[in-house]
Amino acid sequence: QEAALQGRFQERVDAEEKIEPRDWMPEGYRRTLVRQISQHAHSEIVGMLPEGNWITRAPTLRRKVALLAKVQDEGGHGLYLYSAAETLGVSRDELVGQLLSGKAKYSSIFNYPTPTWADIGAIGWLVDGAAIMNQVPLCRCSYGPYARAMVRICREESFHQRQGYELMLALAQGTPEQKRMAQDALNRWWWPSLMMFGPSDDQSAHSAQNMAWKIKRFSNDELRQRFVDATVPQAEFLGLTIPDPELRFNAETGHYEFGAIDWTEFNEILKGNGPCNRERIEARRKAWDDGAWVREAAVAHAAKRKQRALK
Ligand code: ACO
Repeated sequence: QEAALQGRFQERVDAEEKIEPRDWMPEGYRRTLVRQISQHAHSEIVGMLPEGNWITRAPTLRRKVALLAKVQDEGGHGLYLYSAAETLGVSRDELVGQLLSGKAKYSSIFNYPTPTWADIGAIGWLVDGAAIMNQVPLCRCSYGPYARAMVRICREESFHQRQGYELMLALAQGTPEQKRMAQDALNRWWWPSLMMFGPSDDQSAHSAQNMAWKIKRFSNDELRQRFVDATVPQAEFLGLTIPDPELRFNAETGHYEFGAIDWTEFNEILKGNGPCNRERIEARRKAWDDGAWVREAAVAHAAKRKQRALK
């Protein structure tokens, strides 16, 4: 009977029907979605930290308003995504517990520091640019709640990417020192942005199955290539240089070829040994502990209301 259910499930996926929370699904499908959606939610929440670092120091009121709105959007994305994960039968407390204990991953990219204002431009341009490339196909993911959450998230990510690029443009057209800052930020964020797409296809544990289940629509390497192809001309327009001596356009394939990614650096970050891993988890742990009274008050308030309703 399990085999029949599996067969029927795959037929529905192949027919592009959305799978909804109450539908039958293979245990592996549920597990990989909880893993991916919660990793994604954690990334949004931890991703508020490197940029939050600059809110009080944004150089103008307009920049501060835009940055505040962007960081707030990321908090919102994290919350939609936790809700989408909860439809699969896990609780928010469990998910946060997995983040704080180091059991659940979050994107490698958020373990790098933001020492200069230009990093805010580079994050918007490159990190949100890479996020959009990876996330637009997720709007067509086979799991309904995740796909629907991604539609709004992608719209907001597009605004984030544009504010970052516009910020880079202002710096690149500014004083020589501002242009140097922009180049330095590009130098530091380029390779980590390429790593965001995950290990190369032959090393990617989940890709084949997740593509068959139509959670993923394109492989890690395909999306990485698309990102490079879209971003190199943008760097040229800024008058900045991508820090890769092997980067060249192949007129025959119509794609940019690029140098080897340092997977040792990526793996070290995944093990918790990146420049900011400890600091990020510590900040999340502090936020969770400091927020305990709010959670307790919300539970007490809900209980009181329930009692009042019973009277
Ligand atoms: N950072 C941290 N971990 C990563 C990264 C990364 N950039 N890329 C891959 N991994 C992890 C995977 O989670 C997996 O670990 P696990 O088995 O312990 O869970 C392992 O490396 C192997 O990778 P894959 O088999 O390729 O994993 P998967 O098929 O899930 O693909 C990907 C990884 C592309 C990140 C996918 O999960 C995805 O599309 N996630 C949704 C998007 C997302 O999370 N974006 C977060 C950053 S963008 C932002 O928040 C603004």
